[in-house]
Amino acid sequence: MRQLHLQLTLAAMYDFAPDPDAPRPEVYDDLVGAAKALVSGEPDPVANMANVAALIWQFLPELNWAGFYRMLEGELVLGPFIGKPACIRIALGSGVCGTAAATGQSQCVADVHAFPGHIACDAASQSELVVPVLRDGVVIAVIDLDSPVTGRFDAVDAAGIEALAAAISQAV
Ligand code: SME
Repeated sequence: MRQLHLQLTLAAMYDFAPDPDAPRPEVYDDLVGAAKALVSGEPDPVANMANVAALIWQFLPELNWAGFYRMLEGELVLGPFIGKPACIRIALGSGVCGTAAATGQSQCVADVHAFPGHIACDAASQSELVVPVLRDGVVIAVIDLDSPVTGRFDAVDAAGIEALAAAISQAV
């Protein structure tokens, strides 16, 4: 009986789901709230990035890749993600991720084929949103979302993922 109770408690603890009828900004509010709850009290950055990548995947439709690149010794190195295997190291200023990391600015790319230097990891990707994760004004990682749909991401997505990045920046 006690074992059953523990299992039920664990199931509920990780049972986050988007409201299918909620307006998109509210979906992001819920995503940020779920991410804060998941990383709360957990000091391991890999565990936290893995859970946040899983949450993004669960909350946002039409993605084929969602995850992190971490800034390590002046370059981006692949972190926890969901999607196909991806390129492991990206130089600052290279591709969409490297541009976001070098400028500290989110990159919302409607058509990756029109982005100079775009790095194609999955041929299915058509559009991309990359948001820097800043801690004390320094880029420590980027959150990268790819979609098989051209023009998938807009200002609502950028603001939502920026809020997510701010909420988890001390935990990754
Ligand atoms: N397209 C990215 C590379 C990373 S993959 O999309 C996972 C870029 O141009 O930086």
